[in-house]
Amino acid sequence: MPNKIEAEFQQHPLNIGISEKERKQVCKGLSKLLADSYLLYLKTQNYHWNVTGNMFQSLHQIFETQYLDLSSAIDQIAERIRALGEFAPASFSLFHKMTSIKEDSGIPSAEEMIYNLVSGNETIVTTAREIVNICDEAEDDVTIDLIVQRMQKHEKNAWILRSMVPTKRGH
Ligand SMILES: [Fe+2]
Repeated sequence: MPNKIEAEFQQHPLNIGISEKERKQVCKGLSKLLADSYLLYLKTQNYHWNVTGNMFQSLHQIFETQYLDLSSAIDQIAERIRALGEFAPASFSLFHKMTSIKEDSGIPSAEEMIYNLVSGNETIVTTAREIVNICDEAEDDVTIDLIVQRMQKHEKNAWILRSMVPTKRGH
């Protein structure tokens, strides 16, 4: 038997002005963002450890900055899911089902690492953009705020990484 307070909570579920259906839709999107972020976190940390070559010092440092940011983002995304009343997925098998980010087989070259991380950061921006649309419908400005911060960060990360590879200027 639930005690008095437990019974109260059961009768009065989360009441923050967003319908249960919309909360679940937002959380589904956030769960995919969490999965993508976790996979990119691991990939970026992998590269921080395993990068070799004459860009070692710069890349080792850039990768560290980016995986540390991802680590704190993961926590914020998971806790937003909890604040919206759902449980956060937290196992690699669940993440694998949801993520669009592919794992590597073997150790890529430094340039391949840069390319893979640009692609991973851009994947997250795309996932995040889809969630903004869902949040707009739900008028969930708090999640939008979090998502926009993540988009800003991942667009910037992608630019920083792209800039490690020289490109020809047009005339
Ligand atoms: Fe380290």
